[in-house]
Amino acid sequence: MEFIVKSGNPEKQRTACVVIGVFAPRRLSPSGEELDQASDGYLTNFLRRGDLEGKVGQTLLLHNIPNTLCDRVLLVGCGKERELTDNQYRKIVATAATTLHETGALEAVSYLVEIHVKGRDIRWRVRQAVEATRDALYRFEELKSKKDETRPPLRKLVLALPQRSDLPDGESAAREGVAIADGVALAKDLANRPGNICTPTHLAEQATALAKRHRSIKVEVLEAADMKKLGMGSLLSVARGSAEPAKLIVLQYKGAKKKDKPIALVGKGVTFDSGGISLKPGAAMDEMKFDMCGAASVLGTLSAAADLKLPLNIVGVIPATENLPSGTATKPGDIVTSMSGQTIEVINTDAEGRLILCDALTYAERFDPDVVIDIATLTGACVVALGAHASGLLGNHAPLAHQLLNAGKTSGDRAWELPLWEEYQEQIKSNFADMQNVGGREAGTITAACFLARFTKKFHWAHLDIAGTAWLSGAKKGATGRPVPLLTQYLIDRSTEKGRGAQA
Ligand code: BES
Ligand code: MN
Ligand code: ZN
Repeated sequence: MEFIVKSGNPEKQRTACVVIGVFAPRRLSPSGEELDQASDGYLTNFLRRGDLEGKVGQTLLLHNIPNTLCDRVLLVGCGKERELTDNQYRKIVATAATTLHETGALEAVSYLVEIHVKGRDIRWRVRQAVEATRDALYRFEELKSKKDETRPPLRKLVLALPQRSDLPDGESAAREGVAIADGVALAKDLANRPGNICTPTHLAEQATALAKRHRSIKVEVLEAADMKKLGMGSLLSVARGSAEPAKLIVLQYKGAKKKDKPIALVGKGVTFDSGGISLKPGAAMDEMKFDMCGAASVLGTLSAAADLKLPLNIVGVIPATENLPSGTATKPGDIVTSMSGQTIEVINTDAEGRLILCDALTYAERFDPDVVIDIATLTGACVVALGAHASGLLGNHAPLAHQLLNAGKTSGDRAWELPLWEEYQEQIKSNFADMQNVGGREAGTITAACFLARFTKKFHWAHLDIAGTAWLSGAKKGATGRPVPLLTQYLIDRSTEKGRGAQA
């Protein structure tokens, strides 16, 4: 769908639907006032009768408003004026989008970006309007023989800016919003595909397709034989139980000078996690098709970075494999040698994410990265600690952690830091190898990061545990595309900081 920004009066819009905000209790937004005046108090009449209180989530569709050029007006509740939070704004935009979709309107002009959100400027409101609209209208229907809905989708949304002078900012914010929304949709599509379709080979093909779409992206796919030569005994130990060949997918986006150190993104790509010999219980095991959401977020973020032509170099590294039990599978107690030379006692084959990430992280060293960020659906413990609202963040470099936390706040795709103290390293000591792959019941998210920390000593590193944020369960089961917004925001922030540096 297409997003356009422009400025102009609501009564003059020749469109299927004009979207107008209403504050609680029953107070019109500035564009609502304009429309009301043009129509001789038509809107205030409705409000006075109590048809719409103005609470967040409420809507009212009106037809045939006098002295206007639009077919309908959709009034959307915006809550108390001046008290609106980031999340309420997104919810208002999403409600408008779903209601527009239900009306069957093919295009609309929305005045919701004029709504004041605490501490947020017009750029932020436009970008979030684009992202929240796309998020609300996303459907995954490629595997249904009949589509759930026969309605034609909303094709075009015009975002009406309060002032003409907002146009340049509005346009660039809309462009960012679309690039991020496209990256999010790519990540969602990949993750929603089942394990029998989205295999390691499929991920490699999709990475190759992404590189085909962008001249700035190159891709290389390493096979099991290549990984064996590199000494990736840890990664390969996870793939041993599976008939699907493992892949190490390496992408390079070049948007800056050759000598500029790249930002490396390493994404866990377990296309199905049964637990291996340490088999998981059956309940909700289908959701372990989402265990490649880290990988999907790397591809989604690279897509957004390339669309925005960010002046950065970025490397994506995706270790991709299934984790299945079989006669050849790795067994509890087996000891494997990682590419770094460190040996690992595999106490639990279900702690496989760290086993593939450690070799991918060692591999990332060869790019002499400025920073390395890994993204993984790594621990159930993170879901217990933070739920679905924040990704877990740990790392070895405070400024990097700080920048990522800030990018999370700006994008609305938040993370929360957990401590990576030396004391926790005790829990992964082994009697038989350099370390073991699990640290017991306590602080599971932290001990998983402790394990990774042993492979990231040579660079600045952060780890995002997205086990709770990458997908939703229950009636809304499906991938969220997180943390593509956070990562893209971090990259945008890095680009502008660079731009400022160049000017200085
Ligand atoms: N992919 C899972 C983590 C996970 C579990 C994410 C549930 C989302 C929901 C990971 O590979 C795993 O199985 N981790 C184990 C580690 C344990 C054996 C130390 C876990 O969290 O139970
Ligand atoms: Mn597992
Ligand atoms: Zn896993």
